[in-house]
Amino acid sequence: MADQNWYKIGDVEDFKIPPLREITINNIQIALSYQNDKFGAISNICNHVGGPLGQGCLDGEYIVCPWHNWKFHRTKGFGEPGFEQDKVPQYELKIEDGVLYINTESITTRHKTPHTPHPLARKIKREEGKIRVVGISTTIMDQKILDIQRQTNFLKLQ
Ligand code: FES
Repeated sequence: MADQNWYKIGDVEDFKIPPLREITINNIQIALSYQNDKFGAISNICNHVGGPLGQGCLDGEYIVCPWHNWKFHRTKGFGEPGFEQDKVPQYELKIEDGVLYINTESITTRHKTPHTPHPLARKIKREEGKIRVVGISTTIMDQKILDIQRQTNFLKLQ
């Protein structure tokens, strides 16, 4: 890889907390993560409809997209089990003299695989009877994700 693709992110210690953030280097949006003594850098743009992965949260070694809960491995970029072929680009990182660098030429490329549409995405068909109205949030939330986001948000305040 050519040296001209390496860019300084900053002092390593400044990028350990919070454990997940978004950064822009050379006009490339990156989801930068740190846990278990290891940094990870993948595209910040979710394969689904472009959600900002760096604004999500970590679930083990996966980044959870804040928009609809899709997950991508925080260092390799592949999807969660069952969706491994669904990949976002992965970027190489290196540390020299306490400074973190990124190579903006991605190691892997984006690959989208079709997901089965959610039942709510079906074609709307008016049925007999009274009109019924329901409000639907497009954000998936459960207690586990809520707890992770609370922890992440707490850490962002440090
Ligand atoms: S945009 Fe990421 S899950 Fe929908």
